[in-house]
Amino acid sequence: MTMKFEDYQQYLSPVFVKSSHLVAGEGHGLYITDVNGVEYLDMIQGIAVNVAGHTNEKIVKAIQDQAGKLIHASFNHVNYPTTLELAKRLAAVAPGEGEKKLTSLFFSNGGAEANDSAIKLARCATGRPLIIACQGSFHGRTVGTTAITGSNSHYREAYEPLMGGVYFTPFPQRILCPDSIANEDLEGRADYCLWMLNNLLKFLAPAQEVAAIIMEPIQGEGGYVAPHPKFLKGVREICDKHGILLIFDEIQSGFGRTGKMWASQHYDVVPDIMTTGKAIAGGLPMSCCWSTPAIMEKWNKGTHGTTFGGNPVCAAAGLAVLDLLEEENLIENSRVQGEYLQAQLKEMQKRHPVIADIRGIALMTAAEFCKPGTFEPDAAALQFISKYLREEEHMLTTGCGVNGNGFRFIMPLNIKKEEVDLCLEKFEKAVAAYEAQC
Ligand SMILES: Cc1ncc(COP(=O)(O)O)c(C=O)c1O
Repeated sequence: MTMKFEDYQQYLSPVFVKSSHLVAGEGHGLYITDVNGVEYLDMIQGIAVNVAGHTNEKIVKAIQDQAGKLIHASFNHVNYPTTLELAKRLAAVAPGEGEKKLTSLFFSNGGAEANDSAIKLARCATGRPLIIACQGSFHGRTVGTTAITGSNSHYREAYEPLMGGVYFTPFPQRILCPDSIANEDLEGRADYCLWMLNNLLKFLAPAQEVAAIIMEPIQGEGGYVAPHPKFLKGVREICDKHGILLIFDEIQSGFGRTGKMWASQHYDVVPDIMTTGKAIAGGLPMSCCWSTPAIMEKWNKGTHGTTFGGNPVCAAAGLAVLDLLEEENLIENSRVQGEYLQAQLKEMQKRHPVIADIRGIALMTAAEFCKPGTFEPDAAALQFISKYLREEEHMLTTGCGVNGNGFRFIMPLNIKKEEVDLCLEKFEKAVAAYEAQC
């Protein structure tokens, strides 16, 4: 049966903006096939969810086996072997050592929900009201997480007043820092942002009233921005000095995408609370808020919960994801292919002046488009290139960046070198087509 999105569009709220009208019938590995049999190379992968591509057979089998036994009875009332086992195995790979290891877990269903949990936990555990978030951040679209999201004022439009008690501080990315800090001076940006954070505590947000500082260790939607280590280390020191909890949102950067299990491991900085989602359950909706047993102990019992959180089928898929990461060495592959991708992109940058920057770590890599010879954002380039790739090259892609001019290379972690080459070839064709019509 041929199915057209347009025939059904009227039944869907227009608030949910879609980048294509493609009706996806099947997905296998790197590819999605629409209901008309047209195949697309999928460089969105469910927005950085599918670590092993679409319908990986081990994940499918784990889901099928568990679905045949028990789908839902609510973790509020019973325990599931899969969820208990997942908690134990995740705790084993949690960041931190000894008492600072984040081995106590609260499962929920999506990224924003995990961040809401983190805010509630931080407030409850510290008895303090204020939260500091970063400009350029993306933490979700619930009322709570919209309040701590600073990647685009559009997300807040029409929703004020949001959750109160939130202050923002700049994240060390170029457009959030003064022009006087040179583009390559990552350390200079880190110094500036630490100075701004200290000023915030001095002039506006009393440190003894701040429950937590929340940030993505590598900003995702904000543009795949990896800060200088000095920034995250400096934030950790400020938190320690004032008894503020540090929350790392690893919803996009976690589970090996940056070539280490957690992005925070690149910086040797351990948060007090971490949130994960996306890749955690192989494409099924699951997320998690992690902390130390001592902090979790301070969360007033029964004041937070969820009907579906910790679902046994999602947990079975989560166990399969952990198996795949280990057995197929996916984290190392992410590092190797990510480094190759970045090296090739940096060469390509020399051939195409519209590519102003290549950044990120491993398979969390983005290209930024600017007007040639400047850092003036070129959002039209992203729009043209994405459309060209979808229509001419049958490749699905998505953007990032606070100015809508970043291009994310979201590949499954089991991508092969030949597949990286294919993505690069298609990308360069689209970039050249854009430059030719400028
Ligand atoms: C870093 C980060 N945090 C939170 C979220 C929100 O996750 P969800 O859309 O599952 O609520 C996202 C989603 O893109 C994200 O990238």
